[in-house]
Amino acid sequence: DDPAADPFAIAAQAAADIAEKTGVEHHDIALTLGSGWAKAADLIGETTATVPATEITGFSKPALEGHVGTLRSVLLPNGKRALVIGARTHYYENHGVRRVVHSVRTAAATGATTMILTNGAGGIRESWKPGTPVLISDHINLTSDSPLEGATFIDLTDLYTKRLRDVARSVSPELDEGVYVQFRGPHYETPAEVQMAKAIGGHIVGMSTALEAIAARQAGMEILGLSLITNLAAGISPTALSHQEVIEAGRDAEATIGAMLAKIVAEL
Ligand code: 6GU
Repeated sequence: DDPAADPFAIAAQAAADIAEKTGVEHHDIALTLGSGWAKAADLIGETTATVPATEITGFSKPALEGHVGTLRSVLLPNGKRALVIGARTHYYENHGVRRVVHSVRTAAATGATTMILTNGAGGIRESWKPGTPVLISDHINLTSDSPLEGATFIDLTDLYTKRLRDVARSVSPELDEGVYVQFRGPHYETPAEVQMAKAIGGHIVGMSTALEAIAARQAGMEILGLSLITNLAAGISPTALSHQEVIEAGRDAEATIGAMLAKIVAEL
């Protein structure tokens, strides 16, 4: 937990904690659950162990309602193992970017080579009603930060792996794609900021995922990103935004998007 310590050593320790507490030495894929996606954990397979995140090295306690705070080992129908991460540290919590990407580095240290990142986000396209899932095709990171330290020049072409997006669309042909814009938060954007996000090529606004995807790529993982549109972004929506609305949209969509994600995971 020492901030001066090597983040990869801490992730290796966390992976050892997970192996000890779940009895599972190796995970093949990892899935981070954002707002609205929790139900997927029950639908993708059989949970064989649930561990409070606070018992794993380097994880902070959950900050928010709607964010679960456990790690689970799930046996998939195809015999693969998924590590389901229901504990996300957001950049806006001000614990530093190392904390934000710790779960991703831990997932990689358990052996996972596929990272599925999900979130609840605001939509810029009016046709996306709350409850619409959108495949992330690329991102714009507006945090001005990076999980990489020192001269680590990594390529982010095909960050949200085309192969995995093709799998998702083969399962759910109606899935739209969009560019995710990570803002720092925790306030929602102003209408002018949403217009800026649109002008620079964004379609979805949120407060997570981009920094995690960069860390996952550094770890050599393939990445699949999915947003649940919980609301239209400020200025696109005719009404003011509320956190409550975000939580409720998540609850309403949970069963549908959980089933969709389960089908995608079964094909990976
Ligand atoms: Cl409108 N913006 C951001 N940054 N995050 C969100 C959101 C909007 N709606 C849900 N999450």
